[in-house]
Amino acid sequence: MESLDLVVRNGTVVSASDTMACDVGVRDGRIVALAQDLPRGKREIDASERLVLPGGIDSHCHIEQHSSFGVMCADDFRSGTISAAFGGTTTIIPFAAQHRGQSLREVVEDYHARATPKAVTDYAFHLIISDPTEQVLGQELPALIRDGYTSFKVYMTYDLLRLDDYQMLDVLDVARREQAMVMVHAENHDVIRWFSRRLLDRGHRLPRYHAVSHPRIAEGEATGRAINLAELIDVPLLIVHVSAEEAIDAIRDARRRGLRIYGETCPQYLFLTAKDLDRDGMEGAKYCCSPPPRDEAAQEAVWRGLEDGTFEVFSSDHAPYRFDESGKLAKGPNAAFKDIANGVPGIELRLPLLFSEGVGGGRIDLNRFVALTATNAARLYGLYPRKGSIMVGADADIAIWNPEREVEVSADMLHDNVGYTPYEGRTVRGWPETVLIRGRTVIDDGNLEVEPGSGEFLPCAPPERARPLGRTAPEIDPARNWHADLRG
Ligand code: URP
Ligand code: ZN
Ligand code: ZN
Repeated sequence: MESLDLVVRNGTVVSASDTMACDVGVRDGRIVALAQDLPRGKREIDASERLVLPGGIDSHCHIEQHSSFGVMCADDFRSGTISAAFGGTTTIIPFAAQHRGQSLREVVEDYHARATPKAVTDYAFHLIISDPTEQVLGQELPALIRDGYTSFKVYMTYDLLRLDDYQMLDVLDVARREQAMVMVHAENHDVIRWFSRRLLDRGHRLPRYHAVSHPRIAEGEATGRAINLAELIDVPLLIVHVSAEEAIDAIRDARRRGLRIYGETCPQYLFLTAKDLDRDGMEGAKYCCSPPPRDEAAQEAVWRGLEDGTFEVFSSDHAPYRFDESGKLAKGPNAAFKDIANGVPGIELRLPLLFSEGVGGGRIDLNRFVALTATNAARLYGLYPRKGSIMVGADADIAIWNPEREVEVSADMLHDNVGYTPYEGRTVRGWPETVLIRGRTVIDDGNLEVEPGSGEFLPCAPPERARPLGRTAPEIDPARNWHADLRG
């Protein structure tokens, strides 16, 4: 055998389907051998009593993004990716976000300029489509999909981002034709607006009313509507950051009907509740995100969705805003709930939290942990088999976990630029101690070993799972097949 650059020796290697005691041989940044007793490599890492997992893929995070609230994320591509890497994540897929009036192509160029000199992990981009003009839908979006930006997010709420159902049908139609994966922020805009107005009229301004104004039925209704629109167009869809049982049920039901509807959830829906928004004074602003954390019953429903396969991915939705005038409190120290920047941080703790409570707590096994945090995202977004699994031919993106290491979480130990963590004081068991990207050691026992700019851009292939099923919605007369004729 040609000599190996690196051997990760004596570990327990875990993929989405298998767990095996073997060494991992790496050459030229790729995994070239998985076997016991591999010959000595130029470099050796002893992984005895350690778990050798694929590096995580965080397929929903906001980095160096200017939000529709008018504030800049606290993390740029340097701090955001360093924080990701310390938490065992080796690839991120943040958003290149279009604001109305902007050219999508220029937006993408802009995000590349931000990421190239700073990223330490590899990265791809989802697009955010907020202005689906003829030019965007007819030219820019199809061309970008072909260039490797094969997924995009649309919003059913937020004044400056939302699409109406007509526009949703338009973008779904492009996704079908070009085989892109559509991600949907599903909440009923008018329900939120209506409750917000009533609450404010009655003088209810505190952060806790953010949760009141985003009822779970609004999430369930919009999720069901998005699924219906996807069924009409015959296109797969992923509902992001799911928190409500009604939404989980809608996804589960669609999957039972054979539709390619996928679901994503996040740590905040397992570990926080609406009570966190009810902390003293403005403290609750730290926990304001959309959809909001709900109650213990909803947490339990989210766990069940992770266990039974309703959820395909577990992402952070890291939306980092400092608790000051640059972020959460940009509209004043006593801003009303609807003027608080939405989002919570979580890029570094996503994997340790799920490992500790999910695997350690006996709710999911290690293989499902790997599927939820790496492999499925690679498959959904066209990065598989290069990313997301430990197998011959894949990039040597590896997180070596000490499953026994206990860590007490505090904002001080994290590497993001947020200044607080919603998980302060929690103890997690299991921590990624060594992190490799393309065979290079990026993190070694608490130290960053690479320079900003070492991360690479990853163009995404059209995802297999974005293929339409070739179905006609049931109420359409198949003999006429109007439905199929009217699609693009
Ligand atoms: O509250 C959240 N989730 N903020 C981030 C923006 C988004 O909608 O994903
Ligand atoms: Zn969203
Ligand atoms: Zn988000």
